[in-house]
Amino acid sequence: MAKAPHTVAVYSDADAAALYDLLNPWDPEQWPGDAFYAELIADADSVLDVGCGTGAMLHWAREHGHAGRLVGLDPDKAALARARRRMDIEWVQGVAATMGWDTEFDLAIMTGHAFQFLTADDDIRSSLAAVRAALRVGGTFAFETRHPQAQAWESWNPSNVSDVVDAADRALRMWHQVEAVSDDTVTFTGTTAEPDGTVLRVDHTSLRFLDAAPLDVFLAEAELEVEARYGDWHRGPVTSTSKEIITIARRL
Ligand SMILES: C[S@@+](CC[C@H](N)C(=O)[O-])C[C@H]1O[C@@H](n2cnc3c(N)ncnc32)[C@H](O)[C@@H]1O
Repeated sequence: MAKAPHTVAVYSDADAAALYDLLNPWDPEQWPGDAFYAELIADADSVLDVGCGTGAMLHWAREHGHAGRLVGLDPDKAALARARRRMDIEWVQGVAATMGWDTEFDLAIMTGHAFQFLTADDDIRSSLAAVRAALRVGGTFAFETRHPQAQAWESWNPSNVSDVVDAADRALRMWHQVEAVSDDTVTFTGTTAEPDGTVLRVDHTSLRFLDAAPLDVFLAEAELEVEARYGDWHRGPVTSTSKEIITIARRL
C-alpha cells in the first residue's frame, strides 16, 4: 500500500508576520507607548521608522491624517510585505547601519524595542551614525530599550506559554526559552507550536540590554544629545523600578 506523503508542519514567515500584527495591534487609544509615539509623529512633517516591522505605526499615522513624508525601513521581507499593503508610504528593505538618507527627517523612531536588536558595538555605532545623518539639524531620534534592572528575560521560559488563535483560525501554543545571558546580551528562542506541543517554527533572537550610562556613551559618540529620558510611557523619570529606558535625542 502506498504510504501517505509525509507532511512537515510549518508556520511560514508570512504567517508569523500576520500573527505579530494580531498579537501587537498598534492602538494609541489603548497603549500608552503607542500614544507616546503618536504624539511625536503628529508634530513631525517627515518621519523615519527604523525597524518598522509590519508598518502598523505608519499605517495608523497615515490613516489618522498624517500628510507628510513617512518612510519605514526593516530587513524582514515578510514583515515588509505586510507593510507594503499601504502604498502611500515609502518602504525600504535594509538595516539601520546601511541607511543612506541625508538630512531628510524631522523624526526617526525605533519602536517595539527594535534598538535592542543592535547587539554589537560596531552595529550600534554605525546605526546611530546613519540615524543622525538621516535627521535634519535639530531633528529628534526617539526609541526605547528594556531596562536591564527589570530582567524581562526572567519570564521568557517555557512555563509561561501563550495559547492564541491566529487570523486563519489556527490554534497555537507559544513560548520563549532563554539560551544564554552573556554580559548585557540575552539570546533566546521563540517557539510556535500546535496546542499539543508539536513544533511549527523556532525563531532565534539576541537582544542587548544596555543601561542608561553606556547607552548615553554611544549617543554622545554619535553626536546625538539626550533631550529627555523617561522610565515609563507617562513621562515619569527613570527610577530603580523602571522597566523601560525611553530616550529622545536631538541631532545638534
Ligand atoms: C520587535 S520588532 C518591532 C517592529 C515595530 N517597530 C513595532 O513596534 O511593532 C523589531 C524589528 O526590528 C527589525 N530589525 C532587526 N534588526 C534591525 C536592524 N539592524 N536595523 C533595522 N531594523 C532591524 C526586525 O526585523 C523587526 O521587524
